[in-house]
Amino acid sequence: PLLARAGACRDTLISGGGPGSEFTGWLSLSDGSDPAELERIESTAAKIRDTAELLVVVGIGGSFMGAKSAIEFLPAAPGAPEVLFAGNSLSPDALARVLDACADRDVCVNVISKSGTTTEPAVAFRIFRAALEAKYGKAEAAKRIYATTDRHKGALKTLADAEGYETFVVPDDVGGRYSVLTAVGLLPIAVTGIDIQQLMEGAADARAAFQTPGMDNPVWQYAAARNALYQAGKKIEILGCYDSAFRFMAEWWKQLYGESEGKESKGIFPASVEFTADLHSMGQYIQEGERMLFETIVNFEQPRGQVLVPGDKDNLDGLNFLTGKDLKFLCEQARLGTRLAHVDGGVPNLTIQVAKADAYHVGGLLYFFELACGLSGYVLGVNPFDQPGVEAYKKNMFALLGKPGYEELGETLRKRL
Ligand code: PA5
Repeated sequence: PLLARAGACRDTLISGGGPGSEFTGWLSLSDGSDPAELERIESTAAKIRDTAELLVVVGIGGSFMGAKSAIEFLPAAPGAPEVLFAGNSLSPDALARVLDACADRDVCVNVISKSGTTTEPAVAFRIFRAALEAKYGKAEAAKRIYATTDRHKGALKTLADAEGYETFVVPDDVGGRYSVLTAVGLLPIAVTGIDIQQLMEGAADARAAFQTPGMDNPVWQYAAARNALYQAGKKIEILGCYDSAFRFMAEWWKQLYGESEGKESKGIFPASVEFTADLHSMGQYIQEGERMLFETIVNFEQPRGQVLVPGDKDNLDGLNFLTGKDLKFLCEQARLGTRLAHVDGGVPNLTIQVAKADAYHVGGLLYFFELACGLSGYVLGVNPFDQPGVEAYKKNMFALLGKPGYEELGETLRKRL
């Protein structure tokens, strides 16, 4: 019945009849499917590659996680600028590290904020803007700053227009965590030389493939399975992959699912692990801890390279039986063995098969997760496109910081502290 419900929810999502439907522009890939805009992003990325050794991306949440996940997972082109991320915390040390990295290198900045008023990136941008202006002068700094923000309004749009920064758009109908396949993700990704045409082609092909209604639609299956497991008391989903480069992709996925579903006192808690490393740490809990977990493994079938196990004449570790074997084979046996062990231990397992770890397939995977998230949220019965809960910390922080208008709350909070 949950598969059928996923199908019905898919109709609601596509027809725009569900809650939050004003934020489902990502379904049709928005500006990411506009060839002229993709070309502008690519030519800007080429300009940044020519003028900078380092790109600092200033943004938080949906305004940086997608770009970071793709950049960490996919290989950069040789000689591409390093990409560092700032404005995603209030840690002075984290900010100082990125600032230090700018000292003796040519730098460009891509500031990304839909609202333009989010505290963390806004504060960081003040600092990086001042640093660039001190280093290059105001006019040259303006040529090195790229703003990705609302098409028409907001503090950042106003500033960008006044200073003459080149701007890119966060579409009105796309929320931060669904924005990786727009300029928000695409510009920083393109700077590293990752093929964004391929990424978008993969997403477009996934969009076409996953439109087909049917119980064998993997998006329906994933949305239905995780809701079925949730109803059976499996409240935590662990996303795992056997490639450590996937770590931040899982962080992106956690934001997508956690912020979309965790509301009205319900929702699966999204967690992540990195195998086999975490089999030597979290593996103990997964195998024998409280039985409220299920696991989803993203399996890339074809690694990019081949590594063979060398023989050893002394064979002190007793591993000569593996001589000449491809590491891919070892990894595969570890994955299959772990799956059986975890299932035996009461941890249901889902597998998402992806043919290759390249830009095309990553584009498809990102679209898969976004679509499944929209469906899964509807199956759960929440609005997967809002985030009312993130305001509570902001209100308290503003009150404690002394923001005008928050004086009374500030006093109450200080007493409680
Ligand atoms: O998913 C979201 O909507 C959030 O994570 C936002 O992307 C995040 O709060 C940053 O917002 P903004 O782009 O307005 O600075």
